[in-house]
Amino acid sequence: MTDTPDTLPPNGPQVVPFERPNASGISANATPGAGPRVIAIANQKGGVGKTTTAINLGTALAAIGEHVLIVDLDPQGNASTGLGIEHQSRRTSTYDVMTGQAPMRDAVIPTAVPQLHLAPSTMDLSGLELEIGQQRDRAFRLRTALNNINNGSPAFNFTYVLVDCPPSLNLITVNAMAAANSILVPMQCEFFALEGLSQLLKTVEEVKKNLNPTLSIHGIVMTMYDSRNNLANQVVADVRQFMGKQVYDTVIPRNVRISEAPSYGKPVLVYDLKCVGSEAYLRLATEIIQRERELKAG
Ligand SMILES: Nc1ncnc2c1ncn2[C@@H]1O[C@H](COP(=O)(O)OP(=O)(O)OP(=O)(O)O)[C@@H](O)[C@H]1O
Ligand SMILES: [Mg+2]
Repeated sequence: MTDTPDTLPPNGPQVVPFERPNASGISANATPGAGPRVIAIANQKGGVGKTTTAINLGTALAAIGEHVLIVDLDPQGNASTGLGIEHQSRRTSTYDVMTGQAPMRDAVIPTAVPQLHLAPSTMDLSGLELEIGQQRDRAFRLRTALNNINNGSPAFNFTYVLVDCPPSLNLITVNAMAAANSILVPMQCEFFALEGLSQLLKTVEEVKKNLNPTLSIHGIVMTMYDSRNNLANQVVADVRQFMGKQVYDTVIPRNVRISEAPSYGKPVLVYDLKCVGSEAYLRLATEIIQRERELKAG
C-alpha cells in the first residue's frame, strides 16, 4: 500500500524516510503560503552576518509597520542575546518547540522593539538531530509549529517570520528551508564569498524537490562592505555577475555601530538610528517589501 518501506534493511543505515506534511499526523494545511511570509536567513558559512541581518532587518521591518517574529534556530542563541533576552527569560525555547514539547506561541516573547517578537533558543537545540533524527516528520517540525501561528490566544498578527539559521546545512537548517517561502542569503564581502554557495544552492534544490516545491531564493545581501577595500568592490561585482538580479541593490557596510549594538542587547536601529548601518538595514527592509509586492503581483 505504501511506497516507502516502514521497515529498514537489516544492516542498512538507519535512515528513516521523510514524511510529507499531508501524510498522516501532520496537518495538510501546514504549508507555507498562508499567514506570514517566512524567510529563512541561511548560509552554512559562519560569521557572514546571518544573525545581524535577522535582528536588524527584523527591527527595520517592524519600524516600517510590519509585525515580525524572529525565530532563533541557532543553538548559539546569538539572536536572543543580541535582542537583550537573558538566559533566564528563555523559559520556553525553540528546542521545546522543535521537539514537540510546546507550541510555537508559548515560546514567543515580546522584545524592546514594538511589533518585534522573538522565539528564543538555548544550547539544548544542538542535540536536536540526535533526538528527532529518526522521526518521519523531522524535517517539518518548524513548518508545523508555524502553521496557524496567528490564530489562537493571544492573537498575533505576524506579517513576517525571519528564521535565524545556524552555520550548517543540518536538520535545523533543513527545517527552516522546509518551512520558508524563501531564503535570504547574507554573504560577506570577502575573497571566499562565493565558496560554499553551490553547496547551499544544491541543498535548496534538494529541499525543493523533496520537501518544499515552492521555496525560492528571496535574495543575496552583501554584508560587511568596506568601500576602501578594492577587493570588496571586486567581490560585489563578481557576486552580481554570478547571481544577477538575486543580489539586492542594498549593500550592508562594515560599521562599528552594528558590531557594538549586540553587546548592549540592542538592534543597531535602537542603539544608533542615524548610523550608516541602521540606514542600510532600513533600505534593505524597503527593498524586501518591494520584492514581496512584485512576487505577489506575479
Ligand atoms: N555590517 C557589519 N559591520 C560590522 N560588523 C558586523 C557587521 N555584520 C556583522 N558584524 C559582526 O560580525 C560578526 C559575525 O556576525 P553574525 O553573528 O551576524 O554572523 P552569523 O553569520 O550569524 O554567524 P554564525 O554563523 O556564527 O551564526 C559579529 O561579531 C557581528 O557583530
Ligand atoms: Mg548567527
